Amino acid sequence: MVKWTDFERATIQDIFSKIDYDVVGPAALSRCLIVYPWTQRYFGGFGNLYNAAAITSNPKVAAHGKVVLAGLEKAVKNMDDIKTTYKELSVLHSEKLQVDPDNFNLLADCLTIVLAGQMGAAFTPEVHAAFQKFLAVVVASLRKQYH
Ligand code: HEM
Repeated sequence: MVKWTDFERATIQDIFSKIDYDVVGPAALSRCLIVYPWTQRYFGGFGNLYNAAAITSNPKVAAHGKVVLAGLEKAVKNMDDIKTTYKELSVLHSEKLQVDPDNFNLLADCLTIVLAGQMGAAFTPEVHAAFQKFLAVVVASLRKQYH
């Protein structure tokens, strides 16, 4: 089981209580689709992803960015058992969506970059480390049901 320090717990909870899901989620997903264009292949139903402007103004991308953050919120609320919390989500991404699990890290990194930009000086090395650890556990849990 993953062990969290009080600082890590407090930091993760603090971040998620302060960020605006409607801004951060869409910004992170858009960035991922722009910077790593091969990730677009899973979102064929989202319509026009032709260029950066199309991606950032695509309402389906924005909506899905919020869905991803809501998914992360579940992990925040269940920090002691993220693997079980994400069991179904892991099965969905592997069996139904067939998302290459390497892409999880790419989206996680985009999220870190967006968050760092929003938090500015408050994104200290210690906060970064705590967030990085949280995302590493999230990604490992999403990978869990891949065979
Ligand atoms: C759907 C979370 C990474 C592709 C979803 C859903 C959630 C979610 C909560 C909705 C599940 C449902 O409807 O029951 C996450 C989290 C991620 C992640 C927390 C990592 C931080 C990715 C990546 C890709 C991806 C990297 C592809 C590059 C998809 C697709 C759907 C989906 C295609 C279905 C979208 C739709 O048609 O509505 N994800 N996801 N996900 N995810 Fe992920």
